[in-house]
Amino acid sequence: MNKKIYLAPIRGFTNALYRDLLTEYFGGFNLAVSPFISAVNEKRIKKSTLKDILPENNKGISIIPQILGNDPENIINLAKHIYDLGYESVNWNLGCPFPMVAKKRRGSGLLPFPEIINSILEKVIPNIQNNLSIKMRIGRNRNDEIFNIAPFLNQFPLEEIIIHPRTGIQMYEGEADPVVFEKCIKVFDHQLVYNGDIVNLDTFKTLNNRFMEVNRWMIGRGALINPFLPEIIRKGRDDNSDKLKTLINFHDELLYRYSQVLSGPSHIIDRMKGYWFYFSQAFKNKKEIFKKVKKVRTLEQYGSAVKDIYYDDHKLAI
Ligand SMILES: Cc1cc2nc3c(=O)[nH]c(=O)nc-3n(C[C@H](O)[C@H](O)[C@H](O)COP(=O)(O)O)c2cc1C
Repeated sequence: MNKKIYLAPIRGFTNALYRDLLTEYFGGFNLAVSPFISAVNEKRIKKSTLKDILPENNKGISIIPQILGNDPENIINLAKHIYDLGYESVNWNLGCPFPMVAKKRRGSGLLPFPEIINSILEKVIPNIQNNLSIKMRIGRNRNDEIFNIAPFLNQFPLEEIIIHPRTGIQMYEGEADPVVFEKCIKVFDHQLVYNGDIVNLDTFKTLNNRFMEVNRWMIGRGALINPFLPEIIRKGRDDNSDKLKTLINFHDELLYRYSQVLSGPSHIIDRMKGYWFYFSQAFKNKKEIFKKVKKVRTLEQYGSAVKDIYYDDHKLAI
């Protein structure tokens, strides 16, 4: 398959540690967009801010770092630091739906203001050396806001536009809207990347058959639940009969690596519980499994809960 599959940025989950391990255990992804870094008013950006994108932490898979912000100077400054780390491309987040972000006119909060988006791009694009791409939703409040933005975006040399066809206020509810995405293909001059709700081979095939001209696909939560998914899509079939063994090894190594970098058991447990929101969905009795993990308080309890889950004949749903 000559299509490209991108790992979506999922803040708190698809960080460098996870991305590295994912590519060690599973194949299929061509590249990843890393979770957003906020462009703040800070001339010399701290190394800790850039930690997730430092090249030494990203040997497994190529990444495109992502910026969240609305101040052209701050975006330019962060993009320059990113360029200096060796990244020729950078992505601008126009999708983050969280009210705290959106009410400051960042992420999806900028979508109702095409002129502001335009004026930010007018200032940023001539002043950065990186190629710029955008990841956006189809609107903040309405699913047609994107069509007021498209004529502006078409005037800029953007590398690509990743579209998650939901509105900001929808958060993750309802469904991604293929009808709006179809219209986007007609109105945008740029390469589009489809993103949203690809959870198995069938959902991919349906979308791929509908949008034959789209060559780039981004998967987030579907891969957190089923990390075999990009490889299955690539092969066009699912012929792995022993997924559980790989999932167990992957989990154990993830736990081990987090225990090396996080301080104290409660941080490690909290982090792993976060992943189990997705990992549990790989099982038929997902609710029971998530409940089991959620109630653990110590690392010993965590270890025995996970052992029960993996070795107690719970059936996989992936
Ligand atoms: C917990 C969480 C964190 C996310 N963080 C980011 C982020 O940092 N940047 C971004 O552009 N999108 C972020 N997203 C959105 C995803 O990249 C993606 O657009 C969305 O989940 C839809 O794709 P999916 O259905 O394949 O997951 C996040 C989503 C979730 C659920």
